Amino acid sequence: MSHAFGNIGQLVVGGSVGSGELEIVENAGLVVDAGLVVWVGPSSQLPAADQYTDLAGGTVIPGFVDSHAHLVFAGDRAAEFEARMSGVSYSAGGIKTTVAATRAASDDELRAGLNARMHELHRSGITTFETKSGYGLTVADEARSLRLAAEVTEETTFLGAHVVPAEFADRRSEYVSLVAGEMLEAAAPHARWIDVFCDRGAFDADEADEILRAGVRAGLRPRIHANQLEAGAGIELAVKHDCASADHCTHLTDRDIELLAGSNTVATLLPGAEFSTRAQYPNARRLFAAGAKVALATDCNPGSSFTTSMAFCLAVAVRDMHFTPSQALVAATAGGAEALRRTDVGGLRVGQRANLVVLNAPSFVHLMYRPGVDLVHSTFIDGRPVYEREK
Ligand code: NIG
Ligand code: FE
Repeated sequence: MSHAFGNIGQLVVGGSVGSGELEIVENAGLVVDAGLVVWVGPSSQLPAADQYTDLAGGTVIPGFVDSHAHLVFAGDRAAEFEARMSGVSYSAGGIKTTVAATRAASDDELRAGLNARMHELHRSGITTFETKSGYGLTVADEARSLRLAAEVTEETTFLGAHVVPAEFADRRSEYVSLVAGEMLEAAAPHARWIDVFCDRGAFDADEADEILRAGVRAGLRPRIHANQLEAGAGIELAVKHDCASADHCTHLTDRDIELLAGSNTVATLLPGAEFSTRAQYPNARRLFAAGAKVALATDCNPGSSFTTSMAFCLAVAVRDMHFTPSQALVAATAGGAEALRRTDVGGLRVGQRANLVVLNAPSFVHLMYRPGVDLVHSTFIDGRPVYEREK
């Protein structure tokens, strides 16, 4: 059944990841058929369709592509956040609190949390999302986390190398071998990606290298958590492995930026993490000036960034990371798609999936201009509504 949307005040059709420029049609119309965008043009020339929706001058943007989230977990770390806001600094060690709660949870408890968070993502206009394991850290719990994640997204990432769990504290090389061996084998059937937290307090470059190599041998595609807590060897490793994305990039040297700019690896910035850990924000202008590809994602997780709001991330990115509004929107749509090496999502060009968000606003800039205000009117995936705001 075809569906025509008319009287769109501003339609964001897509964007170019390198330049951060948007392609916009004013007074637009769009037609969806069989889950795909089949026509885009002036509203006055909108073809007839089985169903018609008048958007009364509202804005339509491509659904956000959240290329970095940790949604399979149990427990709560509000106390850790509270302590941080009183001066305690963030460290990778907090992950262990969530690991204990996740191991103790039943499948149904984990599934309920995951589904509730997925609903929040849809409310926020996110139509494609990646999610990682990494709070199980045993062979069975990592496989289980990925099995549950695969029920809700095809973008599943094995992150057994999130942190060395307490029971391996004195045997870290044994844990690395487990991750690269038996755990990977159990996780691989449910995962598309392999990820490593390569940073202070997590895994060093040699360990990360071994794990990424094993993941690739098992048929997974590499991505990496790099340079969140300090400027280490993570970016070099990302580029060496042709990772789809290097995530966080809080601390980047000039050499790191040069490496990213000369590669196919997207620099994924995570404003929620700097916000919630009260860390220094990276400056996106350095990346754009060098010609690197940039994405923005929520990093939704219970420790360092417990937000499912992409609009919040956009507002912080513009205010504190020096993105222009259009660079930020491109980074959270086409940039996220590129960070997952996808071309079917992240834009509303003819042939792309009809994943779209209707905003109660005259332009997309209101997403950043009106921080904290929920502007999402409705969210569609493959042309079907997954969220509609109650009147
Ligand atoms: O992306 N950096 C590593 N992983 C998460 C934090 C996880 C946690 O603190 O629970 C992140 O920020
Ligand atoms: Fe993360």
